[in-house]
Amino acid sequence: MSEGLKVAVVGATGAVGSEILRLLGDRRFPVREVVPLASARSAGKSVVAVGREWTVQPLGPSCFDGVDVAFFSAGASRSKEYAPLAVEAGALVVDNSSAFRMDPDVPLIVPEINADAMLPHHRIIAVPNCSAIILLMAVAPLRALGRIRRILVSTYQSASGAGAAAMEELRTQAEDVLAGRPAQPYVFDQPIAFNLFSHNTPISDDGFNGEERKVIEESQKILGMPDLWVTPTCIRVPVMRAHSESITVEFEGDAPSEESVRRVLEGAAGVRVVDDRAANRFPTPLEASGQDDVLVGRIRRDPFDPRSLSLFACGDQLLKGAALNALQIAEARLSG
Ligand code: A2P
Repeated sequence: MSEGLKVAVVGATGAVGSEILRLLGDRRFPVREVVPLASARSAGKSVVAVGREWTVQPLGPSCFDGVDVAFFSAGASRSKEYAPLAVEAGALVVDNSSAFRMDPDVPLIVPEINADAMLPHHRIIAVPNCSAIILLMAVAPLRALGRIRRILVSTYQSASGAGAAAMEELRTQAEDVLAGRPAQPYVFDQPIAFNLFSHNTPISDDGFNGEERKVIEESQKILGMPDLWVTPTCIRVPVMRAHSESITVEFEGDAPSEESVRRVLEGAAGVRVVDDRAANRFPTPLEASGQDDVLVGRIRRDPFDPRSLSLFACGDQLLKGAALNALQIAEARLSG
């Protein structure tokens, strides 16, 4: 393979990094060479991508020589330290962490919504928070039907958002509880199996946690609506890998009809309407798992407030919420 790109995947052994490795082949990303990077603990392990085995290397400053595209999914501190080095070495960085999302010089991109915010001189592109992506995939298309004033959203967030170890914790705890043993938390600070709790990010004096703050600020940035009111409540639930969100959208004028919302969502790229009232069939995290599309349903106007309508959305946190969105960004940049 002499043609194609040299692609580094930072966090290649993690939950998102593994999906990126798989998607490189599935989406026929033009790859010549894969450089899987992780902590020193994983050095020497092998991973599979584009039909070949590659040896994991420990992340270090010299890992980016000749790299064309670097996907970062190893946490914000690794991104802050190494993304500038990757850029210096000539790579385009697509960063899944929160390190650069609110930097005014870094575009925060959901390609279906704001691909035009990526300009040729941008060398770091940020992937938004997973809850913000899934929320906006459902809400952004509605801008064609009226000006949005406010979004109220409650999330039901899967274990995958906290990484591979959290997914393993959910599995182990479920087995333990079913076997009559106590659930032993080690990633989260309380049991995740057969439980739910307020999102495990630090909470500030205003009563909002870090995840909720991201949903507010990132939604405003992605939509280019700094005055948009966004009121989130983020909850962690014992689901493996897809986030669900209960969403109410308030318009400045009367909310659009259910028919027009359904029509707009059915025409929106990356969205699939699942809204069968007769069969009581609506989006579920299980159905969303492994799917590229964000599923949207429970489309209904508010019976009390003519300006509001509600939706329920589910999206695979590891795919559209992270790895897929990252690949789509790189694809858009290569074709643009
Ligand atoms: P490792 O598996 O060697 O710990 P997840 O989000 O699923 O927890 O995955 C996190 C990813 O980030 C893993 O690939 C992990 O590698 C990687 N990672 C964590 N800490 C470091 C570090 N200090 N340097 C490089 N990679 C790291």
